[in-house]
Amino acid sequence: MGEMDGLEVTECTRCPELVDSRTQIVNGTGPDDADLMFVGEGPGKQEDQQGEPFVGRSGTILDDKLRDRGLAREDVRITNCVRCRPPENRDPTTEELENCFPYLQSEIEQVDPAVIVTLGKVPSEHLLDRDVAVTKEAGSVEQAELGDAVRDVLICVHPAATLYDSSQEETLDAALDEAAAMADGGGSGQSQLGDY
Ligand code: URA
Repeated sequence: MGEMDGLEVTECTRCPELVDSRTQIVNGTGPDDADLMFVGEGPGKQEDQQGEPFVGRSGTILDDKLRDRGLAREDVRITNCVRCRPPENRDPTTEELENCFPYLQSEIEQVDPAVIVTLGKVPSEHLLDRDVAVTKEAGSVEQAELGDAVRDVLICVHPAATLYDSSQEETLDAALDEAAAMADGGGSGQSQLGDY
């Protein structure tokens, strides 16, 4: 029904509707030992076509925000709660989230990041297993048992939220400042663009 090769899901048919709607499975990108791991909701149209998470408009915002903090996209792990594009970009269902969860947990265990940043409501609620008021709670850190350990999860708004509501940019900035500081404090050598 589903297979993983290291960090990559190579084939999976657990969600019949997503098997129909996807062009391809979109796996996480970035170092297999990144200090910072971003978790989004699921692939959109661009991601589905290119086979890479956060490469559309949200990705451009995320890339810019990382660069502002001296980080390159290649320095961080970027992944999603579900790896196949839902039809019409609808939210993944609870069942789809659950079907894909073992893959995400395995990725988290293997990468073992210092901090996991949840981008938006769906990943925040999924990883923390509770209702989350994302705008209000963005920037706060909570411990959650994920995979084989209790881990720090930093709640963040989705980058696309800034497209619809410019006041969200400050919230996104503050949460990403916190994320960058936590990853830096982790001390395992996140490479900084400023070093080059
Ligand atoms: N939004 C997400 O949540 N994930 C992506 O990969 C792209 C946009």
